[in-house]
Amino acid sequence: MIKALAGKTALVTGAARGIGLEIASILAREGAALALFDISHEETALSAQKVSAETGAKTIALNGNVALETDCAAAVDKALEAFGRLDILVNNAGITRDNLALRMKESDFDEVISVNLKGAFLMSKSASRVMLKQRSGRIINISSVTGQMGNAGQVNYSASKAGLIGLTKSLAREFASRGILVNAVAPGFILTKMTEGLKEEAKSKLLEMIPLGRLGKPEDVAKAVLFLAGEDSSYITGQVLSVNGGIYM
Ligand SMILES: NC(=O)c1ccc[n+]([C@@H]2O[C@H](COP(=O)([O-])OP(=O)(O)OC[C@H]3O[C@@H](n4cnc5c(N)ncnc54)[C@H](O)[C@@H]3O)[C@@H](O)[C@H]2O)c1
Repeated sequence: MIKALAGKTALVTGAARGIGLEIASILAREGAALALFDISHEETALSAQKVSAETGAKTIALNGNVALETDCAAAVDKALEAFGRLDILVNNAGITRDNLALRMKESDFDEVISVNLKGAFLMSKSASRVMLKQRSGRIINISSVTGQMGNAGQVNYSASKAGLIGLTKSLAREFASRGILVNAVAPGFILTKMTEGLKEEAKSKLLEMIPLGRLGKPEDVAKAVLFLAGEDSSYITGQVLSVNGGIYM
């Protein structure tokens, strides 16, 4: 059977664990060669080996910080060197530095915007140079339900994720005529290291607000990314696909 992404190549940021690793795995299972990019050195190498062993796909591990333009440019160069082309970029790397606005340090605001929002801009800028030459490509930004509905204690994070939606729509308009489609996925509350600190009380309150009655799994998000990376979404650009169990409609 021919796999949906056979012959394609993808670069996923924040791919060492959690949602990013699941996205890398599902794209690799569908036949794509995978560049896993993350700031966490040893974990990235292990994850790249794991994805390759489980799927048979070619993988490379790339280390760097999405907030640094030189790291983004080097990652795209290395992916190109290894695979010869770049078809799919998933801007998934993200961090939280939660606090109520009045207590939030300026540095915590800046750091979150820098990684979550500027990182996606820098990586898209580097990757799109390649995609523009190919006259094809997909860029998928991982936003969040908090960017759509806000969340107390997360002014920095929500602003970064709302910003990603604006970035997605603007890039989609800039690149549409060149065959590059740009979309966002906005997950709700997904069980990963990022959310493992949630207290039981907070979790049960959340569950009451989620019509589908459960927190999400990384694979719920990865399946939406796979759809936006493949041929079945070839008339979709500038959109936000919510994967949130119905918590925000
Ligand atoms: N977990 C959730 O409930 C949830 C909900 C909505 C959106 N998201 C978003 O999904 C994405 C993945 O989240 P997750 O839950 O898997 O988180 P996670 O913390 O498990 O994984 C994030 C990954 O990003 C990497 N990373 C962090 N800073 C980086 C940087 N500067 N450069 C490169 N890599 C960096 C980390 O090392 C880590 O491997 C994030 O953008 C997050 O905001 C998560």
